[in-house]
Amino acid sequence: MDLGIAGRRAIVCGASAGLGRATATALAADGVAVLIAARSEDRLSAAAAEIAAETGGEVAFVAADVTTDAGREAVLAACPAPDILINNAGGPPPGDFRSWSREDWIKAIDSNMLASIFFVKAVIDGMIERKFGRIVNITSHMVKQPAAILGLSNGARAGLTGFVGGLSRDVARHNVTINCVLPGQFDTDRLRSNHQRFAAASKTDLATLQANARRAIPAGRFGEPEEFGAMCAFLCSAKAGYITGQNILLDGGQFPGLL
Ligand SMILES: NC(=O)c1ccc[n+]([C@@H]2O[C@H](COP(=O)([O-])OP(=O)(O)OC[C@H]3O[C@@H](n4cnc5c(N)ncnc54)[C@H](OP(=O)(O)O)[C@@H]3O)[C@@H](O)[C@H]2O)c1
Repeated sequence: MDLGIAGRRAIVCGASAGLGRATATALAADGVAVLIAARSEDRLSAAAAEIAAETGGEVAFVAADVTTDAGREAVLAACPAPDILINNAGGPPPGDFRSWSREDWIKAIDSNMLASIFFVKAVIDGMIERKFGRIVNITSHMVKQPAAILGLSNGARAGLTGFVGGLSRDVARHNVTINCVLPGQFDTDRLRSNHQRFAAASKTDLATLQANARRAIPAGRFGEPEEFGAMCAFLCSAKAGYITGQNILLDGGQFPGLL
Protein backbone atom coordinates (compact mmCIF):
# COMPACT_ATOMS: atom_id res chain seq x y z
CA MET A 1 0.00 0.00 0.00
CA ASP A 2 1.29 3.47 -0.86
CA LEU A 3 0.98 5.41 2.39
CA GLY A 4 1.14 8.74 0.59
CA ILE A 5 3.85 10.22 2.82
CA ALA A 6 6.96 9.99 0.63
CA GLY A 7 8.94 13.21 1.01
CA ARG A 8 7.45 14.03 4.42
CA ARG A 9 9.78 14.72 7.38
CA ALA A 10 9.62 12.84 10.69
CA ILE A 11 11.19 13.10 14.12
CA VAL A 12 11.37 9.68 15.77
CA CYS A 13 12.41 9.73 19.42
CA GLY A 14 14.01 6.78 21.21
CA ALA A 15 14.89 5.27 17.86
CA SER A 16 18.28 3.56 18.15
CA ALA A 17 16.60 0.32 19.28
CA GLY A 18 13.33 -1.48 19.80
CA LEU A 19 9.96 -0.01 18.89
CA GLY A 20 11.25 3.47 17.99
CA ARG A 21 13.83 2.04 15.62
CA ALA A 22 11.25 -0.23 13.99
CA THR A 23 8.96 2.77 13.49
CA ALA A 24 11.76 4.85 11.96
CA THR A 25 12.55 1.94 9.63
CA ALA A 26 8.93 1.60 8.51
CA LEU A 27 8.67 5.35 7.84
CA ALA A 28 11.98 5.45 5.95
CA ALA A 29 10.85 2.49 3.85
CA ASP A 30 7.81 4.58 2.87
CA GLY A 31 10.00 7.44 1.66
CA VAL A 32 9.85 9.64 4.77
CA ALA A 33 13.04 11.56 5.65
CA VAL A 34 13.60 10.58 9.27
CA LEU A 35 15.56 12.22 12.06
CA ILE A 36 16.20 9.70 14.81
CA ALA A 37 17.15 10.56 18.38
CA ALA A 38 18.50 8.62 21.36
CA ARG A 39 21.14 9.24 24.01
CA SER A 40 23.99 6.89 23.16
CA GLU A 41 25.64 8.31 20.02
CA ASP A 42 27.49 5.15 18.99
CA ARG A 43 24.39 2.98 18.92
CA LEU A 44 22.37 5.78 17.31
CA SER A 45 24.80 6.46 14.47
CA ALA A 46 25.03 2.73 13.75
CA ALA A 47 21.22 2.49 13.71
CA ALA A 48 20.98 5.46 11.32
CA ALA A 49 23.44 3.85 8.91
CA GLU A 50 21.67 0.48 9.11
CA ILE A 51 18.19 1.95 8.55
CA ALA A 52 19.47 3.96 5.57
CA ALA A 53 21.13 0.86 4.08
CA GLU A 54 18.05 -1.29 4.68
CA THR A 55 15.50 1.16 3.27
CA GLY A 56 17.47 3.38 0.90
CA GLY A 57 15.90 6.29 2.81
CA GLU A 58 17.21 9.58 4.16
CA VAL A 59 18.15 9.10 7.82
CA ALA A 60 19.74 11.79 10.02
CA PHE A 61 20.43 11.52 13.73
CA VAL A 62 20.90 13.73 16.80
CA ALA A 63 22.23 12.27 20.04
CA ALA A 64 19.97 13.76 22.71
CA ASP A 65 18.11 12.99 25.90
CA VAL A 66 14.56 13.90 24.88
CA THR A 67 13.48 14.23 28.51
CA THR A 68 15.54 17.45 28.81
CA ASP A 69 14.90 20.93 27.36
CA ALA A 70 18.39 20.93 25.81
CA GLY A 71 17.84 17.52 24.21
CA ARG A 72 14.51 18.54 22.66
CA GLU A 73 16.01 21.83 21.44
CA ALA A 74 18.83 19.95 19.69
CA VAL A 75 16.34 17.64 17.96
CA LEU A 76 14.09 20.52 16.90
CA ALA A 77 17.07 22.54 15.63
CA ALA A 78 17.85 19.67 13.25
CA CYS A 79 14.22 19.25 12.15
CA PRO A 80 12.23 22.38 13.01
CA ALA A 81 9.14 21.65 10.89
CA PRO A 82 8.34 17.94 11.03
CA ASP A 83 5.20 16.54 9.40
CA ILE A 84 5.36 13.50 11.66
CA LEU A 85 6.35 13.20 15.31
CA ILE A 86 6.87 9.89 17.10
CA ASN A 87 7.15 10.42 20.86
CA ASN A 88 9.05 7.74 22.71
CA ALA A 89 11.55 7.38 25.56
CA GLY A 90 12.62 4.70 27.98
CA GLY A 91 10.06 3.36 30.42
CA PRO A 92 10.45 3.77 34.19
CA PRO A 93 11.70 0.82 36.26
CA PRO A 94 9.24 -1.58 37.88
CA GLY A 95 9.05 -1.69 41.67
CA ASP A 96 7.05 -1.20 44.84
CA PHE A 97 5.37 2.21 45.12
CA ARG A 98 6.36 2.40 48.80
CA SER A 99 9.97 2.84 47.73
CA TRP A 100 9.39 5.55 45.09
CA SER A 101 10.51 9.05 46.04
CA ARG A 102 9.30 12.37 44.63
CA GLU A 103 12.42 12.33 42.38
CA ASP A 104 11.42 8.92 40.99
CA TRP A 105 7.97 10.25 40.13
CA ILE A 106 9.32 13.45 38.55
CA LYS A 107 11.71 11.38 36.42
CA ALA A 108 8.87 9.16 35.21
CA ILE A 109 6.64 12.14 34.46
CA ASP A 110 9.47 13.92 32.60
CA SER A 111 10.18 10.83 30.56
CA ASN A 112 6.73 9.44 29.80
CA MET A 113 4.50 12.50 29.93
CA LEU A 114 6.15 15.93 29.74
CA ALA A 115 8.76 15.16 27.06
CA SER A 116 5.96 14.23 24.66
CA ILE A 117 3.80 17.20 25.65
CA PHE A 118 6.66 19.67 25.07
CA PHE A 119 7.46 18.14 21.68
CA VAL A 120 3.80 18.42 20.71
CA LYS A 121 3.76 22.05 21.87
CA ALA A 122 6.82 22.83 19.72
CA VAL A 123 5.55 21.33 16.46
CA ILE A 124 1.76 21.38 16.40
CA ASP A 125 1.14 24.96 15.29
CA GLY A 126 3.37 24.45 12.25
CA MET A 127 1.46 21.26 11.42
CA ILE A 128 -1.82 23.18 11.69
CA GLU A 129 -0.52 25.90 9.35
CA ARG A 130 0.67 23.32 6.82
CA LYS A 131 -2.60 21.36 7.11
CA PHE A 132 -0.86 18.06 7.72
CA GLY A 133 0.41 16.50 10.92
CA ARG A 134 0.67 13.03 12.36
CA ILE A 135 1.68 12.54 15.99
CA VAL A 136 2.02 9.09 17.53
CA ASN A 137 2.89 8.55 21.18
CA ILE A 138 4.33 5.18 22.09
CA THR A 139 2.79 4.41 25.49
CA SER A 140 2.01 0.98 26.95
CA HIS A 141 -0.66 -1.68 27.41
CA MET A 142 -0.39 -0.63 31.06
CA VAL A 143 -2.63 2.33 30.12
CA LYS A 144 -5.51 -0.14 29.64
CA GLN A 145 -4.43 -2.95 31.91
CA PRO A 146 -2.29 -1.49 34.70
CA ALA A 147 -0.12 -3.67 36.93
CA ALA A 148 0.98 -2.32 40.32
CA ILE A 149 4.64 -3.18 39.72
CA LEU A 150 4.72 -0.68 36.81
CA GLY A 151 2.97 2.09 38.76
CA LEU A 152 5.40 4.82 37.63
CA SER A 153 4.61 4.00 34.02
CA ASN A 154 0.85 3.72 34.66
CA GLY A 155 0.68 7.12 36.33
CA ALA A 156 2.81 9.11 33.88
CA ARG A 157 1.34 7.57 30.73
CA ALA A 158 -2.23 8.06 31.94
CA GLY A 159 -1.43 11.77 32.21
CA LEU A 160 -0.15 11.91 28.63
CA THR A 161 -3.13 9.90 27.38
CA GLY A 162 -5.59 12.31 28.97
CA PHE A 163 -3.80 15.38 27.66
CA VAL A 164 -3.56 14.27 24.04
CA GLY A 165 -7.11 12.90 24.13
CA GLY A 166 -8.40 16.44 24.57
CA LEU A 167 -5.93 18.12 22.22
CA SER A 168 -6.53 15.62 19.40
CA ARG A 169 -10.18 16.76 19.14
CA ASP A 170 -9.12 20.38 19.03
CA VAL A 171 -6.75 20.00 16.05
CA ALA A 172 -8.48 17.30 13.99
CA ARG A 173 -10.10 19.80 11.59
CA HIS A 174 -6.62 20.87 10.43
CA ASN A 175 -5.70 17.34 9.27
CA VAL A 176 -3.50 16.95 12.33
CA THR A 177 -4.01 13.66 14.16
CA ILE A 178 -2.71 12.48 17.52
CA ASN A 179 -2.89 8.85 18.54
CA CYS A 180 -1.25 6.60 21.09
CA VAL A 181 -0.06 3.09 20.29
CA LEU A 182 0.03 0.74 23.27
CA PRO A 183 2.58 -2.07 23.04
CA GLY A 184 1.84 -5.28 24.88
CA GLN A 185 4.93 -7.49 25.09
CA PHE A 186 7.35 -6.90 22.20
CA ASP A 187 10.66 -8.63 21.86
CA THR A 188 13.02 -5.72 22.66
CA ASP A 189 15.82 -4.89 25.14
CA ARG A 190 13.24 -3.26 27.41
CA LEU A 191 11.10 -6.41 27.59
CA ARG A 192 14.14 -8.61 28.24
CA SER A 193 15.38 -6.36 31.06
CA ASN A 194 11.90 -6.24 32.65
CA HIS A 195 11.67 -10.03 32.47
CA GLN A 196 15.08 -10.36 34.13
CA ARG A 197 13.89 -8.13 36.98
CA PHE A 198 10.59 -10.01 37.36
CA ALA A 199 12.45 -13.35 37.33
CA ALA A 200 14.83 -12.17 40.03
CA ALA A 201 11.97 -10.73 42.14
CA SER A 202 9.91 -13.91 41.90
CA LYS A 203 12.93 -16.24 42.19
CA THR A 204 11.97 -17.89 38.89
CA ASP A 205 14.46 -18.72 36.16
CA LEU A 206 14.24 -16.44 33.14
CA ALA A 207 13.36 -19.14 30.59
CA THR A 208 10.42 -20.35 32.71
CA LEU A 209 9.17 -16.83 33.28
CA GLN A 210 9.33 -16.06 29.55
CA ALA A 211 7.58 -19.31 28.62
CA ASN A 212 4.79 -18.47 31.10
CA ALA A 213 4.56 -14.94 29.67
CA ARG A 214 4.20 -16.30 26.11
CA ARG A 215 1.51 -18.74 27.25
CA ALA A 216 -0.52 -15.87 28.73
CA ILE A 217 -0.69 -14.20 25.29
CA PRO A 218 -3.41 -15.61 23.00
CA ALA A 219 -1.03 -15.24 20.03
CA GLY A 220 1.41 -17.51 21.92
CA ARG A 221 4.41 -15.26 21.30
CA PHE A 222 5.91 -11.84 21.90
CA GLY A 223 5.33 -9.20 19.24
CA GLU A 224 7.97 -8.37 16.65
CA PRO A 225 9.07 -4.72 16.61
CA GLU A 226 8.43 -4.63 12.83
CA GLU A 227 4.72 -5.34 13.51
CA PHE A 228 4.66 -2.31 15.79
CA GLY A 229 6.50 -0.08 13.30
CA ALA A 230 4.05 -0.98 10.55
CA MET A 231 1.07 0.18 12.65
CA CYS A 232 2.77 3.46 13.54
CA ALA A 233 3.65 4.10 9.89
CA PHE A 234 0.04 3.51 8.87
CA LEU A 235 -1.19 5.96 11.52
CA CYS A 236 1.22 8.51 10.04
CA SER A 237 -0.03 7.93 6.53
CA ALA A 238 -2.16 10.18 4.36
CA LYS A 239 -4.81 7.44 4.52
CA ALA A 240 -5.17 7.63 8.30
CA GLY A 241 -6.48 11.19 8.54
CA TYR A 242 -9.78 10.05 10.07
CA ILE A 243 -8.14 8.16 12.97
CA THR A 244 -7.44 10.46 15.89
CA GLY A 245 -7.59 10.50 19.67
CA GLN A 246 -7.31 6.72 19.75
CA ASN A 247 -5.37 4.34 21.99
CA ILE A 248 -4.51 1.40 19.81
CA LEU A 249 -3.49 -1.74 21.63
CA LEU A 250 -1.07 -4.18 19.97
CA ASP A 251 -0.84 -7.08 22.41
CA GLY A 252 -1.52 -10.38 20.63
CA GLY A 253 -4.98 -10.52 22.24
CA GLN A 254 -3.77 -10.32 25.85
CA PHE A 255 -6.25 -7.65 27.01
CA PRO A 256 -9.36 -9.66 27.89
CA GLY A 257 -12.02 -6.97 27.30
CA LEU A 258 -14.02 -6.20 24.18
CA LEU A 259 -13.46 -2.41 24.14
N1 LIG B 1 8.85 -3.65 24.51
C1 LIG B 1 7.71 -3.78 25.14
O1 LIG B 1 7.18 -4.91 25.22
C2 LIG B 1 7.03 -2.60 25.77
C3 LIG B 1 5.81 -2.82 26.44
C4 LIG B 1 5.16 -1.73 27.02
C5 LIG B 1 5.70 -0.47 26.93
N2 LIG B 1 6.89 -0.30 26.28
C6 LIG B 1 7.42 1.06 26.24
O2 LIG B 1 7.71 1.45 24.90
C7 LIG B 1 8.85 2.33 24.90
C8 LIG B 1 9.91 1.76 23.95
O3 LIG B 1 10.25 0.47 24.44
P1 LIG B 1 11.33 -0.46 23.73
O4 LIG B 1 10.97 -1.84 24.14
O5 LIG B 1 11.48 -0.11 22.31
O6 LIG B 1 12.66 -0.02 24.54
P2 LIG B 1 14.20 -0.28 24.18
O7 LIG B 1 14.36 -1.48 23.32
O8 LIG B 1 14.89 -0.22 25.50
O9 LIG B 1 14.62 1.02 23.31
C9 LIG B 1 14.47 2.30 23.87
C10 LIG B 1 15.05 3.33 22.90
O10 LIG B 1 14.79 4.62 23.43
C11 LIG B 1 16.04 5.32 23.63
N3 LIG B 1 15.87 6.15 24.80
C12 LIG B 1 15.60 5.76 26.07
N4 LIG B 1 15.52 6.83 26.87
C13 LIG B 1 15.72 7.91 26.08
C14 LIG B 1 15.79 9.30 26.34
N5 LIG B 1 15.62 9.80 27.57
N6 LIG B 1 16.04 10.15 25.31
C15 LIG B 1 16.22 9.67 24.07
N7 LIG B 1 16.17 8.36 23.76
C16 LIG B 1 15.93 7.50 24.77
C17 LIG B 1 17.06 4.20 23.77
O11 LIG B 1 18.39 4.61 23.44
P3 LIG B 1 19.37 5.26 24.57
O12 LIG B 1 19.27 4.38 25.77
O13 LIG B 1 20.71 5.28 23.93
O14 LIG B 1 18.84 6.63 24.81
C18 LIG B 1 16.53 3.22 22.72
O15 LIG B 1 16.87 3.68 21.43
C19 LIG B 1 9.33 2.43 26.35
O16 LIG B 1 8.79 3.57 26.96
C20 LIG B 1 8.75 1.18 26.99
O17 LIG B 1 8.57 1.31 28.38
C21 LIG B 1 7.56 -1.32 25.71
